[in-house]
Amino acid sequence: MSQTRILTLRVARITRQTPEILGFELAHPWGRELPAYEAGAHIDVHMPGGFSRQYSLAQAPHVADNRYLIGVKREPAGRGGSASMHERVREGDLLPVGEPRNTFTLAPGAAHHMLLAGGIGMTPLLAMAQTLAARGERFTLCVFARSPEHLAFADALGASSLAPHVRLHFDEGGTPAQKIRLAELLAAPAAGSHLYMCGPAGFMQAVRGAAGEWPEDNIHAEYFAAPDGMVASTGRPFTLRLLQRGISVPVAAEQTAVEALHDVGIDIPVSCQQGLCGTCVVPAEGDGAEHRDFCLSGTERRHKVALCCSRARGDQLSLHI
Ligand code: FES
Repeated sequence: MSQTRILTLRVARITRQTPEILGFELAHPWGRELPAYEAGAHIDVHMPGGFSRQYSLAQAPHVADNRYLIGVKREPAGRGGSASMHERVREGDLLPVGEPRNTFTLAPGAAHHMLLAGGIGMTPLLAMAQTLAARGERFTLCVFARSPEHLAFADALGASSLAPHVRLHFDEGGTPAQKIRLAELLAAPAAGSHLYMCGPAGFMQAVRGAAGEWPEDNIHAEYFAAPDGMVASTGRPFTLRLLQRGISVPVAAEQTAVEALHDVGIDIPVSCQQGLCGTCVVPAEGDGAEHRDFCLSGTERRHKVALCCSRARGDQLSLHI
């Protein structure tokens, strides 16, 4: 297991996208090639004040011109990370940034991709839409924003390659015809269609509620934060069986699997510790896990587990580490 490499990147450009959202373009200080990524990837940004936050990359690699573009919404009630980016980071500053990781990938071979974005949740879906447009695949990008004034990355959405595939929904200021009704949009999924969603908690809940007819394996979600009341990483004690090492490690009731492994000298990289980012995901054997993450798809859960939060369903959980 390798730790995520930390890059030092220069803030090449800051653009105001909406009254609350700034776009930050990050580049290598000496113009070197940045590590590659695919649409849906995110980076950890370490910012002034000791904060670290994850941001999705908002451009497909072929559009990005060797830069990482992120959108940062200022959250007045947040814990300080977005305020640090808005108030303390200026063009020319250097920021430590983790290399891109991706737990929100496009499904290969999908007949159609339905991309649903709530507010700043548009960022990974915009990169996906650009990728799909370049590949000539079928997709629809629905963006929900409070008003036209609150629509970020409007230029990118209006590009000729995307515009025919984009539907905009404004809570305020749009025409009635422009409004998207989720229940109608998602009522009858076409065969082979995949659904992707990213946005605030209420939006995610609404999409989930409307997507009851969609096969679980065809739904892909990127959460900003664990839904309220759902961050639970402790529970019954169990034993981790490490198949490659041939040892067993007990996990106490009040411990996470990551903590138990740390106690025996095995360090699993972690970042969000909320089951969101995928940093702590390792290969697992069978279906012995009680999954509590928000980053693995139904298919991935058959052979992977996020150790910062998930536990064994029974007495044991076998890992390929
Ligand atoms: S550390 Fe982020 S999912 Fe476990």
